[in-house]
Amino acid sequence: MSLRGDYNLAASDFSVEQDWSAYGEEEHALYRRLFERQSKLVARYACPEWIDAVAGLDAGGGIPRFDAVSRQLRAKTGWEIVAVPGLIPDEAFFTHLANRRFPVTVWLRTPEEFDYIVEPDVFHDFFGHVPLLFDPVYADHLHEYGKGGLKAMRLDAVKMLARLYWYTIEFGLMRTPQGLRAYGAGLVSSGGELAHCIESPEPKRLPFDLERALRTDYRIDRYQTTYFVIESFAQLMRATEPDFTPIYAKLRPLPALEP
Ligand code: PHE
Ligand code: CO
Repeated sequence: MSLRGDYNLAASDFSVEQDWSAYGEEEHALYRRLFERQSKLVARYACPEWIDAVAGLDAGGGIPRFDAVSRQLRAKTGWEIVAVPGLIPDEAFFTHLANRRFPVTVWLRTPEEFDYIVEPDVFHDFFGHVPLLFDPVYADHLHEYGKGGLKAMRLDAVKMLARLYWYTIEFGLMRTPQGLRAYGAGLVSSGGELAHCIESPEPKRLPFDLERALRTDYRIDRYQTTYFVIESFAQLMRATEPDFTPIYAKLRPLPALEP
């Protein structure tokens, strides 16, 4: 797969400068349009932790300045944003998370990609992922995930662990007093799937099951047909706390499950 970002200027940890002044006015305007469409949806469909966090974030005026948001994040949960050219290799990604650094892509989609984009861009990465880093439990969970990723590399289990990321961090649902809500970044940043994942009668919505998530393949090019529902970030944290070494060993010989 050829990636769209410019990796030439990246450091060995794949970080780059954000160079905020290089964004054009049309790019800020496109970001604002994405932000406005999505803000109307999240009030009804995103989990309360996400909504609370975004209220304190001055993020709708255009493409955000990562350094300013990193200052707020460091004070709240010790996380920071690191600018990257796009998708980065597993080891670099897990190392950033294991050090409480969240990689955010610097470039923005084109106007033609308003509704759909294949690779994560700054809107997906920032709007989808960054608000929840202000939630202390989620923030700790993602840190543990990063350390777990480095461990999974040693155990040759990244494929299984990546499925867990997909069904939680990207496409997870949560049961709340207001009903079903989304917390996965792929949902929260999606113009179409955010309402679909809550309202549509079509997809399966299963109670979160660690082993099943680790075994279930996923499709990246269509709405999900299965979502896993957590009760809270504390539940997710508890469920993923045990040592995965014996779980990987047990699941490895079993066939993967259909999406
Ligand atoms: N507990 C997992 C392990 O031992 C690490 C992990 C934590 C994975 C949180 C995912 C989320 O490998
Ligand atoms: Co993402």
